[in-house]
Parts: sequence; structure tokens; C-alpha cells
Amino acid sequence: MSDDAAFEGVLRQIDDSVPFEPGYYNESYLDRRVTARMRRRGTESHREYERLLRDDATERQALMDALTINVTEFFRNPEMWEVLRGVLRDLTAEQRRVRVWSAPCADGREPYSLAMLACDDPEIDEGRIEVLGSDISEEALENAREGVYHTTRTTDIAAELDLLTEPTRYVERDDDAFRVRSEPRRLVEFETHDLISDGARDPFDVVLCRNLLIYIDVDHKGALFDTLEASLTDDGVLVVGMTESVPPDRTDRYEPIEKRRRVFRRA
Ligand SMILES: C[S@@+](CC[C@H](N)C(=O)[O-])C[C@H]1O[C@@H](n2cnc3c(N)ncnc32)[C@H](O)[C@@H]1O
Repeated sequence: MSDDAAFEGVLRQIDDSVPFEPGYYNESYLDRRVTARMRRRGTESHREYERLLRDDATERQALMDALTINVTEFFRNPEMWEVLRGVLRDLTAEQRRVRVWSAPCADGREPYSLAMLACDDPEIDEGRIEVLGSDISEEALENAREGVYHTTRTTDIAAELDLLTEPTRYVERDDDAFRVRSEPRRLVEFETHDLISDGARDPFDVVLCRNLLIYIDVDHKGALFDTLEASLTDDGVLVVGMTESVPPDRTDRYEPIEKRRRVFRRA
């Protein structure tokens, strides 16, 4: 069997055995993740790894975790959050309910960042804000609902919260553990949602879709953007990741609020 055919076999195993659709993602991304797992398990060929996946539930879970890339931070790319601060001040000043969707939200740090910013900034009326966080990964969402984050060798939670004037008002610290307090927590809800196949949600005033598009295969980006567009109000605000962009055939549908920070308004 050629190595290409064996790699296809691995992808089929993924498709059949874990709640993850390999067809959505670009091949170089899938290849990197599978190769990393193979190295970890000392597996020499795709054929051998395919067998391992079939026989070993622990490896199936480990691969699923590796594929869902739920790396995130509180206030990831702080400059973008300064732009969003202005957007939220303006929207809440309009004296109406403001709905925000963080999709994908990974372990919840992005939607909680938004809720904390709203509570922290005296010019944002947090009483008007509702945040939905969604993700395809149940495990990430469990973590999000729990709302507890740990400082580790590679993650400094206190530093991530630097943008807030009063971080301890929003998190309760117990040594290395940080628990999100009820003031920001009550603004946020979580739900499982697949951005490619589950379709649109109620229109939102702000949609954050950051750091997923880079992994998505070109053929599926259209479906993802259809979902985002159908989930935005007529003049809704869309935020993508710092290394991501609106596809060229759709740029006329958005006007930049701050292009360098990837914050756009629907035109
Ligand atoms: C790198 S995280 C991004 C989290 C956050 N937006 C940020 O920028 O820090 C990517 C997330 O996308 C989720 N994901 C992958 N495919 C998805 C899909 N089809 N629909 C919804 N979420 C998906 C993963 O589970 C992961 O939690």
C-alpha cells in the first residue's frame, strides 16, 4: 500500500471513530497532527498507526485532543481587545441588548474575557451584554463551564489578565488555580456547535471567529462564512484571528473598523 493510501486510511479511521470531520481541515494541518501523535507512540508508518487507532481507544482520544487544537488565552492579542472595547461602549450606549458569539470558544477564555472587559470598563454597560460561547469539543466546553484555569510552566494566567484594572474582582485565585467569579460568569452561556455543519444561530451584534479559519480547507471556508454571515445582524461586527482574513470574494461585504486588528463591520 502506498503511503498516501495509508494516510487516507488513517483519515478514514478518524472519520469513523472520533467526532471530528477530517474533510473540513487542510491536509498539511492533519498531517502535522497525525505525525506528532505517531512520533509520540513510536509508530513508524501510517499503516501501523491506522491499526493502532482501530485497536486503542486511548489513542483515539489523544488524537481527537491533538486535532481540536484548543489552545487559547484570556485577552489573546490585547490590541484587538482595545478595538473591541470601543465597539462594546458604542453598542451598549444604544440602550439595547447586545449579543456576542464567541465561536469557537475553546475552554472559554475568550467569552470570559469579553464578559470581564464589559464588567471592568465603566463605559460599557455590562447589564446589556449576553455572550454565547460555542465549540465542537465537549471536553473544551466542560472546562469552559467549570471556569477554572491553571498557571503552568507555559501559561501565566495572571499575566493574561493584565488588561483588566481589577482582575481579582473577576477571578478568585487559589495558588495556581483561577476560578472565574459570578459577576462575569453570569453573562456567558455555552453550547456545542459545529461551525461548518450546524448552520447559523440567532443574529448576533458581534461574532468572534478567531484561530479556526487557518486550519480549515478552502472548500469548507465558504460554508463557515455562510454560517457567520447568517448569524450577524445587518451592521454586525465580525472579528477574525490576527493571521486570518475574510475570503477575497467576500471582502465587499465588510468594511474594516480596524483592519490590522481584524475587526470588520458588515457592509
Ligand atoms: C485555537 S482554538 C481558538 C479559540 C479562540 N477563538 C482563540 O482564538 O483563542 C480552535 C477551536 O476550534 C474548535 N473547532 C475545531 N473545528 C471546529 C468546528 N468545525 N466547529 C466549531 N469549533 C471547532 C476546536 O475544538 C478548538 O477549541
